[in-house]
Amino acid sequence: MSQFKVTKAVIPVAGLGTRFLPATKAMPKEMLPLIDKPVIQYVVEEAVSAGLQDVLMVTGRNKNTLENHFDRVAELEANLERKGDHDRLAKVMASTDLANIHYVRQGDPRGLGHAVLKAKAHIAEHSFALLLGDDVMDARDPLLTKMLELHESTGENVIALMEVDPSQIHLYGCAVTQGEVVDGVVRVTSLVEKPKTEEAPSNLAIIGRYVLRPEIFDILEETAPGRGGEIQLTDALMTAAQNPDRAGGVLGVVFKGRRYDTGDKLDFIKATLRIAVDREDIGQDLRQWLHEFNNEI
Ligand code: G1P
Repeated sequence: MSQFKVTKAVIPVAGLGTRFLPATKAMPKEMLPLIDKPVIQYVVEEAVSAGLQDVLMVTGRNKNTLENHFDRVAELEANLERKGDHDRLAKVMASTDLANIHYVRQGDPRGLGHAVLKAKAHIAEHSFALLLGDDVMDARDPLLTKMLELHESTGENVIALMEVDPSQIHLYGCAVTQGEVVDGVVRVTSLVEKPKTEEAPSNLAIIGRYVLRPEIFDILEETAPGRGGEIQLTDALMTAAQNPDRAGGVLGVVFKGRRYDTGDKLDFIKATLRIAVDREDIGQDLRQWLHEFNNEI
């Protein structure tokens, strides 16, 4: 097995979800449903379909709902079984059987870098994938698999990048890149977390997918709080990019597919519609209704 073969995924889900209050007052934002599945299930499914069965969630408050979603619900299962409702039973069981899910609690919310550090004991000496629970990549546009292959063949840290409108770059980590290594892959030479538009060195944003070497933990331990007084993963990656001998360099895969920031209200609605129009059960009716609705507004 290659030294850089990845088998584990880490998903931080400790955010407060303030942009969705009051819906997220008593429920983690990752449990908001896109049609009939919570956002977190799409993210876990993405990890699993890229071959990562071992999933560690770094949780915060309200973790119970998340844990319950991926656990058995004996009563509900027995009830559906009795009724012979096998379709629904399969849906209920799908999240239970999906992956081997582990949980660790973040404690103080001291930033994404701090959340990632909580995975150190579980990950130990291996490379791992990091998927941010807010970002849903359309399953029709595979990204993680390409990132894992790139990591395996180069041994470098790999991050996903996407061109955004310059007015939006202040919401993201921003990458400075050099040329194109191969098709859609760039070398990252520098990174800055959430720069002001007028100071941003590019419009290439980090989107929530990373494949990281374990050396990132040592770097994170030495990384001083950055933007917002939080330990920033972007700052640790900047150290990795500038010290390739220590932690491997950083490559970026430029994603041109469909990505939904489900932490954003408008994007959440767009994600729902984009996914729903292609669903077998409701897609056709929804398309027709959307045409009618379009004439109304
Ligand atoms: C985090 C990262 C940022 C990245 C973004 C992607 O920010 O710190 O570098 O661009 O995720 O969604 P957050 O959205 O958690 O504020």
